[in-house]
Amino acid sequence: MKICMIGVGYVGLVTGTCFADKGNIVCCIDTDQEKIKALNSGIIPIYEPGLKDMILDNKQNGRLEFSSDLRNSIADSLLCFITVGTPPNKDGSADLSYVLNAAREIGKCMDNYLIVVTKSTVPVGTTDAVRDMINSELKARGKEKLTFDVASNPEFLKEGTAVADFMCPDRIVIGCDKGPIAVCMRELYKPFAHSENKIITMDIKSAEITKYAANAMLATRISFMNEMAQLCDKLGGDIENIRRGIGTDMRIGSQFLCAGVGYGGSCFPKDVNELIHTGQKNGFEMAIASAVHKVNEGQKKYFVDMIKKKLSDNLQGKKIAVWGLAFKAQTDDMREAPSLMIIEELLKMGGQIAVYDPEAMEQAKQALKKENHKIEYANDMMRAVAHADVLVLITDWQEFREVDLDQLKKVMRQPVIFDGRNQFDPLEMVKHGFRYYCIGRNC
Ligand code: UGA
Repeated sequence: MKICMIGVGYVGLVTGTCFADKGNIVCCIDTDQEKIKALNSGIIPIYEPGLKDMILDNKQNGRLEFSSDLRNSIADSLLCFITVGTPPNKDGSADLSYVLNAAREIGKCMDNYLIVVTKSTVPVGTTDAVRDMINSELKARGKEKLTFDVASNPEFLKEGTAVADFMCPDRIVIGCDKGPIAVCMRELYKPFAHSENKIITMDIKSAEITKYAANAMLATRISFMNEMAQLCDKLGGDIENIRRGIGTDMRIGSQFLCAGVGYGGSCFPKDVNELIHTGQKNGFEMAIASAVHKVNEGQKKYFVDMIKKKLSDNLQGKKIAVWGLAFKAQTDDMREAPSLMIIEELLKMGGQIAVYDPEAMEQAKQALKKENHKIEYANDMMRAVAHADVLVLITDWQEFREVDLDQLKKVMRQPVIFDGRNQFDPLEMVKHGFRYYCIGRNC
């Protein structure tokens, strides 16, 4: 099939590349000409395992191209995916201007039948608004007889495992109101589905809400476990035992039950807030989403307060090493990363900060530069921690987990660790001579 993707962000780039990899002809469109130029010269704007090789391979085989020419691209496409960003507005609602602008441009350019698919995360009713926008542009051009259809196809891939998630998804959700559209979308997704029942078709609004429900449910599990971890710290008990004790119940399942410094990233915080906003706009309270957000904000503060309490609120003259800056491992994404708030608080306490992240150093520099902080950006994890009085671990990269503990103790001035991701066994840490603090494990 010939496919046009509007928006070369995380989702657009991964989706377009994976569609091309299964033999479709894909053109990825973006208004950012610099980005298109970079992609055409083989420079990939994001770090995502496996993506670069796949892009280069499909580009070379003529199945994938990058351009800013929407008119040309949709002229011979059957499907047009909208994969632009929906960043948060100040009031927590999703900014739909990029989505509606893409719809406007489609209406201005299209001259043949097209299936327009919203893949961006959009509040319920947006796909209908996309349809209205295209209709009004067609009317303005006197082309109201031109036919098109719309569908909603939310994406569930995770950063860091995006290619694997897309190639082998748990399920594919397709929202549409006409049988033939579902048939076409099923055909497109057949090579990814591996079994028929992985493709779930439904009405458009249900598909839009499913995306928010999935992210809010996962965020709820994390906030719930973070709350339980605080209970363990107060009353005794070990959150890791509780995680095993409930995760083995098939009805609960074992994933997304890790307590830590709170969830971050471009999705959970934004989508939980958008749900709260949608409730408010429609006159009811999304009580669970509100609580999930509140617990998450509190969790970052809980970790900082733990550091303050154990170090008597004074970091003056102390070197604090921070391992892990991105919002999670396997990504260079700093959006809503808990490290930003934690580092700011450590600086307020008078600490000299040295940071290291395996992938997010450049992005972290940009994000932290805004605040005008004096921070040492170390080239590797051992340099960051050399002569440090305290190590604060915020992202669960494997290389941190596999550190040689004897060597770590040797290079640090004082063997004190605050582990915001419960990466180490507390008993082993004590055995190695560390003062070790973590989340919900009573140490
Ligand atoms: C999330 C969803 O998992 C994807 O299904 C969805 O497609 C995506 O949002 C999106 O809407 O685009 P992502 O934000 O890439 O994916 O990252 P996750 O792996 O879900 O992690 C989110 C946050 O939760 C991270 O800060 C992570 O450290 C935290 N987390 C995750 C925990 O604190 N505990 C856990 O047990 C799991």
